Amino acid sequence: MNNQPKLDKYKQEIADLYTRRSQNYDNSDWHLQIARRLVEYGRVSPRQQVLDIATGTGHVAIAAAQIVGSEGRVMGVDISPGMLAVARNKALELNLNNTEFVLADAENLDLAGNSCDRIFCSSAFIWMSDLHAALTHWHTFLKPGGIIGIHAFADTAFVGGVVTQKVAEKYGISFNMSKPTGTVDKCQNLLEQAGFEQIEIKIEPEGSYISLEKAKAMWAGNSHPAPGQYPPPLSTLSTEQLAQAKAEFDAELEVLETELGIWNDITTFYVFGQK
Ligand SMILES: C[S@@+](CC[C@H](N)C(=O)[O-])C[C@H]1O[C@@H](n2cnc3c(N)ncnc32)[C@H](O)[C@@H]1O
Repeated sequence: MNNQPKLDKYKQEIADLYTRRSQNYDNSDWHLQIARRLVEYGRVSPRQQVLDIATGTGHVAIAAAQIVGSEGRVMGVDISPGMLAVARNKALELNLNNTEFVLADAENLDLAGNSCDRIFCSSAFIWMSDLHAALTHWHTFLKPGGIIGIHAFADTAFVGGVVTQKVAEKYGISFNMSKPTGTVDKCQNLLEQAGFEQIEIKIEPEGSYISLEKAKAMWAGNSHPAPGQYPPPLSTLSTEQLAQAKAEFDAELEVLETELGIWNDITTFYVFGQK
């Protein structure tokens, strides 16, 4: 596979962001738990061929590699060299000889058709530029009867994101965030329209109270890449407007504060479809 993917500015910013984060990414086990659940629900078994899309530090790939065994094969692809370096080290330490990590754009993969038993994408699907095209692309790599498993968040998830969207709307700005996959119907439609069948969606209503300070730190600002959007939506605001929007964001959060803190919904979807 092409080992130097051509990335547009949007994807290059994502790759750089995750390479900067790569050394600390595994400090929390939050993504790991999600990835393990996706693999568990995805019914991986020995001897399977598994593709882990946007593998990052390899959470899904490594969990799957331990199940498929020496007669199976796992490939993790990602656009961030830093994340892949961490993944490769982990696989080396675990002596996983059935796993490879490849620098590649998940929306432009050069793989054999009908070659995968399972395709997973955990904590990454909303970063794709074109969700429908990505799913259609991945559909070609699944063997008939193979299963895709995608993890996504509900559009109610992450109080910082929800309030950012509310404030941004006042400035005529629309954020994608989790909206494209934000409901069961949207997930169902996305998979159906890409040709998947027997779609199953597990909904896990999760969340916790967080401090006002932590919620305020969830402000999107104008510097990070925003899922599915380039340039970041708030970058169209002037410095004064941005400061005003941030003040409005903080004020909205203050209203939401209770004795326990601020409720941070993290409703999670595990979406499966068959070819
Ligand atoms: C939040 S991390 C998730 C990593 C991993 N799947 C996990 O469960 O921890 C998002 C990852 O998506 C990768 N990514 C984003 N867009 C991508 C693309 N078009 N192709 C490949 N990887 C991509 C990023 O580089 C990053 O490593």
